[in-house]
Amino acid sequence: MKISLKLICLPLALCVIATHLFAQQQTIDQKVEALLAKMTLDEKIGQLNQYNGDWEATGPVTRDVGNKLDEIKQGRVGAVLNIMGTDHCRTFQDAAMKSRLKIPLLFGQDVIHGYSITFPIPLAEAASWDMAAIEKAERIAATEASASGINWTFAPMLDIARDPRWGRVMEGAGEDPYLGSQIATARVKGFQGNGIGSPDAVMATAKHFAAYGAAIGGRDYNSVDMSLRTLWEIYLPPFKAAADAGVGTFMNSFNDLNGTPATGNSYLQRDILKGAWKFKGFVVSDWGSIGEMINHGYAKDNYEAAQEAITAGSDMDMESRSYINNLAKLVADKKVPVTLIDDAVRRILRKKFELGLFDDPYKFINPEREKTALNRPENLEAARDMARKSMVLLKNDNNLLPLSKNLKTVALIGPLVKAEKELKGFWSLDVDQNKGIVSLMEGMKNHAPDTKFIYAEGCKITGTSHDGFADAIAAAKKANVVIMAMGEAPDMTGEAKSRSNIHIPGEQEELIKAIKATGKPVVVLLMAGRPMVFSWTAENIPSIVYAWWLGTQGGNAMADALYGDYNPSGKLPITFPRSEGQIPIYYNHYNTGRPAKSDTDLFYVSAYNDLRNSPQYAFGHGLSYTTFEYQNMELGKFKSSVKGLKPIQVSFMVKNTGKFAGEEVVQLYIRDMVSQPVRPVKELKDFKKILLQPGEIRRVTFTIKRDELAFYNDRLERVTQPGTFQIMIGSASDDIRLQKSFELTN
Ligand code: NOJ
Repeated sequence: MKISLKLICLPLALCVIATHLFAQQQTIDQKVEALLAKMTLDEKIGQLNQYNGDWEATGPVTRDVGNKLDEIKQGRVGAVLNIMGTDHCRTFQDAAMKSRLKIPLLFGQDVIHGYSITFPIPLAEAASWDMAAIEKAERIAATEASASGINWTFAPMLDIARDPRWGRVMEGAGEDPYLGSQIATARVKGFQGNGIGSPDAVMATAKHFAAYGAAIGGRDYNSVDMSLRTLWEIYLPPFKAAADAGVGTFMNSFNDLNGTPATGNSYLQRDILKGAWKFKGFVVSDWGSIGEMINHGYAKDNYEAAQEAITAGSDMDMESRSYINNLAKLVADKKVPVTLIDDAVRRILRKKFELGLFDDPYKFINPEREKTALNRPENLEAARDMARKSMVLLKNDNNLLPLSKNLKTVALIGPLVKAEKELKGFWSLDVDQNKGIVSLMEGMKNHAPDTKFIYAEGCKITGTSHDGFADAIAAAKKANVVIMAMGEAPDMTGEAKSRSNIHIPGEQEELIKAIKATGKPVVVLLMAGRPMVFSWTAENIPSIVYAWWLGTQGGNAMADALYGDYNPSGKLPITFPRSEGQIPIYYNHYNTGRPAKSDTDLFYVSAYNDLRNSPQYAFGHGLSYTTFEYQNMELGKFKSSVKGLKPIQVSFMVKNTGKFAGEEVVQLYIRDMVSQPVRPVKELKDFKKILLQPGEIRRVTFTIKRDELAFYNDRLERVTQPGTFQIMIGSASDDIRLQKSFELTN
């Protein structure tokens, strides 16, 4: 018998690597134990304490107490957040090096969508459905941040959101657990690069654990009340994906979940995360969330709050000072066993060792590297590419877009035409005083130097004044085409930025009406951190581009799309409602016992009498300058065999039937037709983004595995049930082009 050399060498090599990794891990564990053995109880508690630095506060600061640097020297602090730049980090790390055991500090920062170069907000990036691009964006953010002293980012935010009133919808990946999980993996890989400890990587944080995005009424920090099935089906999958991708830390959340604050929630942190998922990293509280358990009415005082939090598995206290002020007494009073504290300290020290901070506490603090790593031209190019991919062409009647570069006169109207720093959106960092941001106006001029651009602001983002309308109308009348840049202010989304009214603010839609009345062709570009409501515009304006907040290169990217140098390919990661009255609205809902047959069906069915059921724009919607035809679907059958159940393949052809090269996101949805309990009318299970030249036709194949048909039953067991499954292939959740069914037998 001939055995190939490869067959012997590969397992051998894998075995050597595994032994090496194991040996390395063992050494870290041994080092952790050795250090732990030297630590006093106070020093251990110090590792569980995190303070805000003195750069900028991203929450209510506890203004009391002495000097933070002194506390660091006393070994009373394990991590600091919100400090900027290598000089600043050095000052703090120097203080840590003066402590008895010289345990280095972690430096945390909200590097949410870029560090110095600002990338599109996460919700916008999610609209790209391009995992490679998203991973690259985080790689660049990590390269920049790690060159500036940061070794830990509080990202990615993985909260599923079905409510656009919630201000933090901008920070996540939208409403879908499958898309959200893919993006979670891409972001963790991007931040952590070749692994925690690589010099250009930052340790990532999966946040906010859990269900924070389901705040009742979309009001930030509000309670969450949901079935455990919904938690497992919809809200947990992205967190599981991040854990599987090796994320270093988790952050818990401000909300209570069915009456128990997440910070004091053992079911979430101990049973699920550290138990079922075997998570070996540590959990940081959200800002002050341990102390806030007093406001929740869950703990009487900080002493009790600290006890609840450490017992439930919160390892590090961000800014509430509950641990530093109470844990020693809780141990003395025998309310908290020291083993619980040891477990938390071990988890934190392990990460510090993995980061390489014990070998070199100044590993990420290198001013030379900082000077050369930020704002590199190739990274600006990547930011432009990401921004182009994030836009969604919502509507393009009569192919008004793309614009010709030979137009004589274009009017640029609206309060966001000249926006620069606004394009960075919420959660961006002012690392370089907002230098080099490209506005829409500048982007347009870069593209069409021979066109005359006339600018009129028209109105402000908010307010009631129509004073600028006349100038705007006059500008429109002189132009061949009008481009309007409208939307929210960047601080209308973000933390504590929930809104009950998510219409385009102020008088902007009135201005759109006035400009449309001139009879000129009008393109509306909408910028915001959430889905806005704009029914009149959606029905009356021929071309609409959703441009979110696209970051540093936003203006160039918008002009690339408007002029057709880039063919839009974004698809909505979240449903756009027609009105706030439809919220919460999401595509993967149940059918109900009385589903409406159409948008106008009101006869004893589940519908509003004053509002259609369908959304303004559905999940997965997004147009291109070209068109795609889907044909020839073929579907295999699930076959049982002694070896188990084999996956089946679905394949079909996609053809570019238009004149432009373009990318299409082909989407695969399934529906379990009969099950107990019931399943949604559609669930995204896979997608592919493909580039086709005009006339090109390509076969696309998806593989459906049995696990993708599984779901949680009433007892939270993951099961599949035999019966009919419908497979739907489409260009959007409401644009299904091909479908077939198959039977699953046991
Ligand atoms: C509170 C936010 O909820 C969290 O996401 C953030 O990381 C911390 N503040 C630190 O800024």
